[in-house]
Amino acid sequence: MNILIVGNGGREHALAWKISQSPNVQQVFIAPGNAGTELEPEITNVPITYNTINRLIDFAKQQAIDLTIIGPEAPLVQGIVDEFNAADLKCLGPNQAAAQLEGSKIFAKQFLTRYGIPTASYKVFTEITDALAYLDTVQFPIVIKADGLAAGKGVIIAPDITTAKSAVTAMLVEQRFGTAGKQIIIEEFLVGQEVSFIALVDGTHVLPLASSQDHKPISEGDTGLNTGGMGAYSPAPILTPKLHTQVMEDIMLPTVQGMAAEGRPYKGFLYAGLIIGADKIPKVLEFNCRCGDPETQPLMLRLRSDLANLCLCTVEGRLNHQTISWDPKIALGVVLASNGYPKHYDTGHIITGLPSEHESQQSSLEHKIFHAGTKLREDGKVITSGGRVLCVTALGETITAAQQNAYALVDTIQWSDKYYRRDIGYKYST
Ligand code: AMP
Ligand code: GLY
Repeated sequence: MNILIVGNGGREHALAWKISQSPNVQQVFIAPGNAGTELEPEITNVPITYNTINRLIDFAKQQAIDLTIIGPEAPLVQGIVDEFNAADLKCLGPNQAAAQLEGSKIFAKQFLTRYGIPTASYKVFTEITDALAYLDTVQFPIVIKADGLAAGKGVIIAPDITTAKSAVTAMLVEQRFGTAGKQIIIEEFLVGQEVSFIALVDGTHVLPLASSQDHKPISEGDTGLNTGGMGAYSPAPILTPKLHTQVMEDIMLPTVQGMAAEGRPYKGFLYAGLIIGADKIPKVLEFNCRCGDPETQPLMLRLRSDLANLCLCTVEGRLNHQTISWDPKIALGVVLASNGYPKHYDTGHIITGLPSEHESQQSSLEHKIFHAGTKLREDGKVITSGGRVLCVTALGETITAAQQNAYALVDTIQWSDKYYRRDIGYKYST
């Protein structure tokens, strides 16, 4: 098989790296990829972004691509899968109608309510006067969400009425999030531990991946601004076998059955962002129509099954005959970011201490440095080009061991404004 991966983050580096190990895969292309994928001997970067779907389709035809795997949500919500399918090309991901589970938070909440799937209580607003009047009646903190995609910035946890009022004004009046914020949700604040439950779904069948847990806030102890994710590990100890069964029965299966019943059969990676509180009932905070980043990086380090085959079975509706196996060790990934992220940061700094190709191949079973915001300069130097730059991922027998292994590697990599959390895994390390 020839495979094309679309995207340029750490998640896509991890997917491409794992796919390139599949015995039936001949060529792996990534569009556009990053320095990490460019340095992989088995992966070829292609300078096409997902804003030009026609060019991706032409490339897939020219190179006889058997399967295209879409990493990020934006092209899925735009309908990239519909366009590939119309061109008779196989493409892993939900079509535009099914990607609404992430593309519209209102669609997702109304869907959850229709099927009695546990989630926070909420109200929808389009008029500022109604939203402001409602805020006078609620308890704080409260959660305010833009309906559409907002690059991970559309959720505001308001500790008090002043913050809440300025958030709804920013969305509904100042249109700070453009059309994504024309409609908003005001939602009950839930307390508990978050866990990422990601599955492959073929329209009917659900094959869950191992559980994982992200660390969203920028600073240690889960404080400060929310980011795309500063580190993750798999499995997540909080997701006991009992809770796993509960999530499958009460959330994943009803979701997949409901989507099919509504004429929007869901195919692709389905990521339920869950919260588990004192009542031990997992509730849906959000759906994502893709893999998590950085959750994918530790997941791919643990995955033992043939990912290309699983992806093909998903697209072809054959997941019911598939199983998936994992390294029993814990994998933990620490995100190295540019100082200032998630706000302003500089780019263009030279990164030193990255393992040579030879070293990275030899050690790739126990640890792996996945790239995100990196570029390969013409002189061969790797430079920073984004907020989240690398995800240093390692295995260990325990969370503490995986943490030690990952942080030992973190210390060997340098650039002038490297920032990272020193406490990834803190909830379970000893
Ligand atoms: P979302 O994009 O909906 O996952 O929101 C981003 C982050 O905001 C989540 O990962 C949570 O940390 C937080 N969040 C969202 N909704 C709620 C809620 N109802 N209660 C508490 N935290 C929330
Ligand atoms: N790590 C959170 C996300 O991918 O949305």
